[in-house]
Amino acid sequence: MELKNNTILITGGTSGFGLELTKRLIALGNTVIITGRNQVKLEETKKIFPKVHTFQSDVSNPEAITKLHEEVIKQFPQLNFLINNAGEMCKINLQDSSIDLNDVTRELEINLMGPIRMVKQFLPHLKTKKSAAVMNITSGLALVPFPLSPIYGASKSGLHSYTQSLRVQLKHTNIKVFELLAPASSTPLNDKFMNEEGFNPKTLMKPEKLIAVAINGLQKDRFEIYPGIARVLKIMSRLAPKFILAQTSKVGANSFK
Ligand SMILES: NC(=O)c1ccc[n+]([C@@H]2O[C@H](COP(=O)([O-])OP(=O)(O)OC[C@H]3O[C@@H](n4cnc5c(N)ncnc54)[C@H](OP(=O)(O)O)[C@@H]3O)[C@@H](O)[C@H]2O)c1
Repeated sequence: MELKNNTILITGGTSGFGLELTKRLIALGNTVIITGRNQVKLEETKKIFPKVHTFQSDVSNPEAITKLHEEVIKQFPQLNFLINNAGEMCKINLQDSSIDLNDVTRELEINLMGPIRMVKQFLPHLKTKKSAAVMNITSGLALVPFPLSPIYGASKSGLHSYTQSLRVQLKHTNIKVFELLAPASSTPLNDKFMNEEGFNPKTLMKPEKLIAVAINGLQKDRFEIYPGIARVLKIMSRLAPKFILAQTSKVGANSFK
């Protein structure tokens, strides 16, 4: 797809990949609208990128999505590209009795239900555009479990499956469906893993590099984009699934004892 003169809505644009996407997409000549829960972070982002438009909105809250849709469409009727980027990753011990029934599925609400509801809400509008796109940010962990974050992996596998179905269902429309299967990268999302046994920060990809690969993939209509080590995970998850699970199981293994 051509990456200029689009109007792009990015969920979670105040940090990590979302912030880097904002920077690159504005520089390419697009109008960029971002969301996030934290108003202070939205204002800080606006200071760095004065051209960005911000909306405080929680993607795990269906009413907030309805309100966001109403406001964005009113102010930016030319919106033609939705990037479902907002996400959280938690360490969860499935035997921990202090985690309640809401907390245990929080990542599903944000990482899986969020994008599904965003697409449901914005699809009729995107269909009115001559050229439109959706990009869902999943993960290499959509392809292989990461036992230290069991719900995260489930959310990204679910989003990967959903995205493939969405692409098939929208095949005869004007809407292109992209998926960015990102590898572990140096963003605040990974701060909590830095001291985990078996976690090697040296393997983290720089968000600048990752987003450069993503932009290139979008421009070349590569509907599944596998930057860096994500491509290795794709191959290994098919050729040697038990071996690769044994590797990801080493991270934080002491916490399951
Ligand atoms: N970093 C990695 O290693 C990695 C690898 C593969 C995939 N990913 C995926 O890439 C995406 C971006 O991750 P990142 O590493 O850039 O994370 P990050 O630096 O922690 O940024 C997350 C962004 O999402 C926003 N956000 C979180 N929950 C939200 C919610 N409920 N509603 C709206 N906004 C929300 C955050 O702002 P607020 O907190 O203010 O809401 C922030 O702007 C996520 O989907 C993540 O799963 C990351």
